[in-house]
Amino acid sequence: MCLGNICRSPAAEEVMRSVAEENGCGKKWEFDSAGTGRYHIGSLPDDRMRIHARRRGYELTHRCRQVCGEDFRHFDLIVGMDASNILNLRRMAPDIEGEEKIIPMSAFFSLATRYDHVPDPYYEGAEGFELVLDLLEDACRNLRDTICG
Ligand code: 4NP
Repeated sequence: MCLGNICRSPAAEEVMRSVAEENGCGKKWEFDSAGTGRYHIGSLPDDRMRIHARRRGYELTHRCRQVCGEDFRHFDLIVGMDASNILNLRRMAPDIEGEEKIIPMSAFFSLATRYDHVPDPYYEGAEGFELVLDLLEDACRNLRDTICG
């Protein structure tokens, strides 16, 4: 989950799917993304995110949608990208059980010394998008190892 659902979370969704397939546990899990905001509903991910992701072999075809109450029932984990995102998700959770499913992506970073969140790349250049992908590839592998055993 992120704010716009056009940069970080659609990339996370596809990176997660890809790393889960790497060790054969992809079929057991459903991965989806959504945003807390509603500015870009129905849109494909940001062109810059799609281009940087494609260079690493990820095709981003997700259509932006807003987080809904059902997400907190349907999914086992709701992974947020930064502190503001986590706060907004907590506000949107329909009940305590849903709120307990929220976890920051940074909980899965191997090296949490420099970054404690996935920085919003929207107002950044190429470096920001590459950083998002670097952090997501690291975190998603660790998340996969946690859920797939
Ligand atoms: P995201 O990035 O939360 O990673 O999808 C953003 C995309 C759009 C906006 C903000 C962040 N926006 O303000 O439109």
